[in-house]
Amino acid sequence: MRRDSVVGGLLVLVCGLQACQMDAPQEGVSDAELCTFRASARVEQILAGMTLEDKVGEMTQMTLDVLCVGENHKAEEPHRIDSVRLDSAFAISKIGSVLNSAGHSYPTEQWRALIGEIQAASMEAKGIPTLYGIDAIHGATYTYGAALGPQQLALAATWDTALVRVMAEGTAKEIVACGIPWNFAPVLDVGRDPRWPRFWETFGEDPKLVGDMGEAMVRGFQEGEVKVAATLKHYLGYSTPWSGKDRTPAYIPERQLRDIFLPPFAQAVRAGALSVMVNSGEMNGIPTHANRFVLTDLLRGELGFDGVAVTDWEDIRYLKSRHKVAATHKDAIRMAILAGIDMSMVPQDWEFPVLLKELVEEGAIAEARIDLSVRRILTLKERLGLLDQGGEALPAMLTDSERLALEAAPAQAAMECITLLKNEHDVLPIASSANVFVSGPTANSLNALNGGWSGTWQGKNPKYNNPGRKTAVEALRDEFGRSRVQFEELESMDFNDQDIRRVASALRRSRPDVALLFLGEMPYTEFMGNIGDLRLADNQLDLVRAVRETGTPVVAVFVEGRPRTFSQVESDLDGVVMAYLAGDFAGPAIAKVLSGSHNPSGKLPFSWPREASSHTTYDRKHTEKHYSARPQYAFGSGLSYSPVQTTALRLLNEGNVVLGDTLRIEVDLANTGDRPTNEVVMAFVQDRVASITPSVDKLKAYKRVLVDAGATMTVPLRVPTAELGFIGTDLDYVVEPGTFGLRVQQQTLEFELN
Ligand code: BGC
Repeated sequence: MRRDSVVGGLLVLVCGLQACQMDAPQEGVSDAELCTFRASARVEQILAGMTLEDKVGEMTQMTLDVLCVGENHKAEEPHRIDSVRLDSAFAISKIGSVLNSAGHSYPTEQWRALIGEIQAASMEAKGIPTLYGIDAIHGATYTYGAALGPQQLALAATWDTALVRVMAEGTAKEIVACGIPWNFAPVLDVGRDPRWPRFWETFGEDPKLVGDMGEAMVRGFQEGEVKVAATLKHYLGYSTPWSGKDRTPAYIPERQLRDIFLPPFAQAVRAGALSVMVNSGEMNGIPTHANRFVLTDLLRGELGFDGVAVTDWEDIRYLKSRHKVAATHKDAIRMAILAGIDMSMVPQDWEFPVLLKELVEEGAIAEARIDLSVRRILTLKERLGLLDQGGEALPAMLTDSERLALEAAPAQAAMECITLLKNEHDVLPIASSANVFVSGPTANSLNALNGGWSGTWQGKNPKYNNPGRKTAVEALRDEFGRSRVQFEELESMDFNDQDIRRVASALRRSRPDVALLFLGEMPYTEFMGNIGDLRLADNQLDLVRAVRETGTPVVAVFVEGRPRTFSQVESDLDGVVMAYLAGDFAGPAIAKVLSGSHNPSGKLPFSWPREASSHTTYDRKHTEKHYSARPQYAFGSGLSYSPVQTTALRLLNEGNVVLGDTLRIEVDLANTGDRPTNEVVMAFVQDRVASITPSVDKLKAYKRVLVDAGATMTVPLRVPTAELGFIGTDLDYVVEPGTFGLRVQQQTLEFELN
């Protein structure tokens, strides 16, 4: 629903709220909570037949490890179900959901056997199939042999939402073939702070790009040939902890929360996302799992979300043990449920359903509140077709050729994301007759290319790498011929001065035409990726210097999940390529960009800071103009081998532009080179004067187009004037009339909005 009104002479527009039918208040259930869907007669019938024990069990999610043979919640190798534990999970605890792999990927057949066994137990004990959930965040993370595509940050660098949607459709097929209908993706946290170790899991720093990419992914998961439920995570305010460290406090005023962090979630909810996962951290001193304003008033009341809200890992218990807002586990459960949680990712102990039942019996939580969550969970099962399948019929396995076909989108995305940031003296592309020297700690690691959530949670174990995928150096040998590629290995991130000397003398001996240094980071996620300094590691800076001293032209290829700063050696580099964590097909993609057999088209979805302590996003304020105004590479940067110039910018609206109009923009492009180039046209708007200090630039429209060699073309863009606003002091969305600027590359114009 959109509400337009005039408040105090300002045009006010409230976006993103869905109409809701209010029911008469019911004991223990607020109006906002009731502002939801109507469950089907079938769901109501199942609910009516459930005991309280059944219901609290339905709200319980356990991790696979605890159903397997093994001690201390660790499945013993080879992983296999412990039939006694399995029976008691469903017959006694009545759990409604299971998640995760027990530590690493399995082939599809193994998943099918496992999940078949679990579903059979659920059906026998409860007559309701279980809801199996997994993190298939860049392809089917935990399915051995499934194509792993670029991580989200790299996907954002393609600016290609259609391709992201196709990739998500492929992921859905892969996990459904395993028997898994629920995916814990996409991450819709806006990546405003590159120190944060989950930066690479985001679609970058711009809320519009994050929202569009998120919507594409949700639609891919939920509207393709095969459907899985998407999970919007981590709702809300997770990505900018004050310290830059995972799961540490964030301080976000409600105005910024609504301006920057909420819109992508609102967009994905409008696109029909079926579930959300809650932020493990705290915002303004309130752990999100206990934040009723965020989980109920905003999510249900304003966004009109009618799906399932699941906690993140162990987060109800953490209200007591980490956050210290609850004195007992039981009170933590009470707080979380009353805040708005539907399902607890417990996931390793059996207390949750027991204590939740007691809370209801003691009158601390109304049974109607429990019914609401169970209704949502059963509806999710119904929407996914689980109630029809009765947990039995798994969809067919993918054939080899079907699986091969699913490699096309991630391979293309890997190609499209690689971003060329510097290319002096035309060091790139490298001539096919050239001799190439390769070194650097990420040159020969498929794990580095994939990052976290690849085969295993941290993505570090080569044993679970998909077969047949190439590291960067292997792909370079294919591209240039083995004899033309001289490789000097650095086996770990901890290489020392002696190793650097070894590399430099090998380089001197081989006298190549160009040296390629693969720098960056090894895989990590969550806490494990916390850093004390955003600067690139000292040994990597020293490696650049040592290679530079040989006089050979040097190109750095960054394989990393966040922009590590390297201004100390930037001038030593002739070429700079950002390869992100581009996945299983990154090796060939990088090699093809370096050789020129692919013309690069990736554009940075974030601002690359020049110094670690002077980071600001591109939509900074006018007062932040000093260091932060000169990032190492600006948001949207990315070169190609055939430059495309923006030669003109026009606004076609005649006469007055009034609120409600759509800006009709035309951009003329000229490809001045000799190759077809994929260009991303980005239109930024500047509100010249506003009641809240305006940003220097705001991305309002973009389009990826192919411009033929030597060709010119005109690209139309549309921006509804209703999108030229911001959240005002009264926390309402407002569009203020006045003068606006419009910019596409260096072309600018101004217009008046009346
Ligand atoms: C992560 C989530 C993930 C969950 C289940 C948590 O540690 O924060 O992103 O979905 O684990 O694996």
